[in-house]
Amino acid sequence: MTKARIPTGIPGLDELISGGFPENTVNLVSGPAGSAKSLTAIQYIYNGVKDKDETGIYLTLEEPRENVLRAMDGYGMDITKYEESGKLILLDLGEVRRRLESSEEEGIVGFEGIVTLLKNLLEFTGAKRLAVDSLTAVGLYYEDSPGKLRRELFKFAGFLKESNVTTLLVTESIEGGQLTRYGIEQFVADSFIVLGLEDVKGELRRTITVRKMRFTKHDTMKHPMLITSSGINISAESKVF
Ligand SMILES: Nc1ncnc2c1ncn2[C@@H]1O[C@H](COP(=O)(O)OP(=O)(O)O)[C@@H](O)[C@H]1O
Ligand SMILES: [Mg+2]
Repeated sequence: MTKARIPTGIPGLDELISGGFPENTVNLVSGPAGSAKSLTAIQYIYNGVKDKDETGIYLTLEEPRENVLRAMDGYGMDITKYEESGKLILLDLGEVRRRLESSEEEGIVGFEGIVTLLKNLLEFTGAKRLAVDSLTAVGLYYEDSPGKLRRELFKFAGFLKESNVTTLLVTESIEGGQLTRYGIEQFVADSFIVLGLEDVKGELRRTITVRKMRFTKHDTMKHPMLITSSGINISAESKVF
């Protein structure tokens, strides 16, 4: 059975993955700081609303809401319009937590807290798309227990797969090291996209590679990626050597 596709709407990317993410799967994007992980996630959610009229939720756990808004505005995305119509939900979980607990503490949230929130939110909004930016931030909650992080992450992915939503998770890679912050994120995901930021003769070169995608015939080459005034642009025809 071939799964329906949820296109990212990012120029060049859908061509690499047979049209988009398979519906109701959990997808992962990793890369070093500044490699455009957040931009990828934002565009995935924004394009869903704009092009497909699909409700999307963007959970930000690293950047405060105002930073996300500023970035979107910089790429000409009109988020206010879609927030007002309830089609795009931009949630700063740290902020929510600080308010609920009226504490000034860092708003670190564990997977259980996220699931509790999402259970209601997904049902209430009927969202088709979800982005969680990032797992690296959630992992801080389990700093003392890698075993617990592993168990909770698997449970979280299981919850998402049963939730009738197509998810994009974000995690950081370690420069010169492993592809994901905790070394396990790629195992819970149905697909895994790696963003690169390489120093070539003093210039930063952006790349993208689809490393894994279940249910899909996909491209495995490393492609060049550009950021333009309207966001990410991937050259599906050219390769990086
Ligand atoms: N208008 C623009 N044109 C080109 N590059 C930009 C523009 N705006 C931001 N950038 C770059 O895009 C990067 C994307 O950042 P972001 O998505 O936040 O990365 P990450 O989440 O991986 O840390 C920024 O670090 C910056 O270098
Ligand atoms: Mg980011």
